Amino acid sequence: MTSTSTRIVCVAGARPNYMKIKPVMDALERRGAEVTLVHTGQHYDESMNDVFFRDLGIRPPDRYLGAGSGTHAEQTGRVMAAFEPLLAELAPDAVVVVGDINSTLACALVTAKAGPLLAHVEAGLRSRDWSMPEEVNRVATDRVSDYLLAPSDDAAANLRSEGYRDDQIHVVGNVMIDTLFANLERARQSDVLDRYGLTRGGYGLVTLHRPANVDDPTVLRGLLKALAEIAGRCPLLLPVHPRAAGRLAELGVPGGIRLVPAAGYLDFIALQDAARVVLTDSGGVQEETTALGVPCVTLRENTERPVTVEQGTNVLAGTDPGRIVATVHRVLDRPPTARCPGLWDGRASERIAGVLLDGGSARTRPRPTDLVPHGAAAGAGTRPPR
Ligand code: UD1
Repeated sequence: MTSTSTRIVCVAGARPNYMKIKPVMDALERRGAEVTLVHTGQHYDESMNDVFFRDLGIRPPDRYLGAGSGTHAEQTGRVMAAFEPLLAELAPDAVVVVGDINSTLACALVTAKAGPLLAHVEAGLRSRDWSMPEEVNRVATDRVSDYLLAPSDDAAANLRSEGYRDDQIHVVGNVMIDTLFANLERARQSDVLDRYGLTRGGYGLVTLHRPANVDDPTVLRGLLKALAEIAGRCPLLLPVHPRAAGRLAELGVPGGIRLVPAAGYLDFIALQDAARVVLTDSGGVQEETTALGVPCVTLRENTERPVTVEQGTNVLAGTDPGRIVATVHRVLDRPPTARCPGLWDGRASERIAGVLLDGGSARTRPRPTDLVPHGAAAGAGTRPPR
């Protein structure tokens, strides 16, 4: 592809997509590409959507699919059914999808069958945990993508081990960190600490939304027990995801844990930046805390982002209450030293624009009409081990 008049559809659907798509759109437009922003509508609340568009300065979507909530099949199916005719109408040269949510997979599947080239930003991340819907979305999206844009060397190694061709894999760095660095000074101007009566280094920040943690009352009760014990040493602030709100209200939240509404982007970055420790089951938060150098304890048994453990500030604690408490005490006593992984330098989206528009391997990229099935690559086409 060349930048002049290249038409690219950029897809976003839910909260963790917005900070990833924004720098990619900007980089493509700076290079002269014609970008259409398609919003699938997977997230739609003010607190999950609108505030991010405002904070990040993302223009209103050019097209809105209004998919909304539902089961995985309903949500994925609604996005696919709405995206297919839109893609036929727009007939872009390429589609860019980011991350691992249901909208990512839905638009990837439609694109792969319709013909435009497909680029996956954040390719190659693997938790090897097939109970996570996001793992299914990641593996399947990579499988039908032409450009696999990996955030780190470990992600690229995963792709190579699954049989993808070297000319499909591009280690470009982490676009989420582009947005973090671009907005950090603005975030530090936020008055969120004053509003909540917090001081820098004087609290722990908690996020919980993963179905495995919040949909099962036994697991959630155990997590709350651990949080209550930790709050005895370090008061905790928990901005609430809508998925978790009902369950938390049912079970009741112990003292020392303060529930607040889900935060916007700038406020949430400010809260992470000033926290003594962050406890989370999110993927992106593991990365942002590593880039900020803030200790992170992940309330999951695995991570698709091992670089945050190997090089960053992340420690996996699982969901056993005793282990969580012991891990947090250890981290508070001796915060992990860390460095920011290579290419997490604020310029990942520039590299992505380069890959898509300058050629490089893209010069040899087959045209949409004669795409080589990935099964043609050695080893590809076999289902990864489960
Ligand atoms: C989705 C993503 C997850 C991501 C998370 C970030 C998938 C499979 N999961 O999970 O990877 O980390 O977003 O938030 O795509 N709801 C609202 N308002 C909204 C959106 C959702 O109230 O704007 C409620 C609905 O009751 C909905 C529930 O939250 O049923 C879950 O939303 P959904 O988009 O299905 O998944 P998330 O848990 O948000």
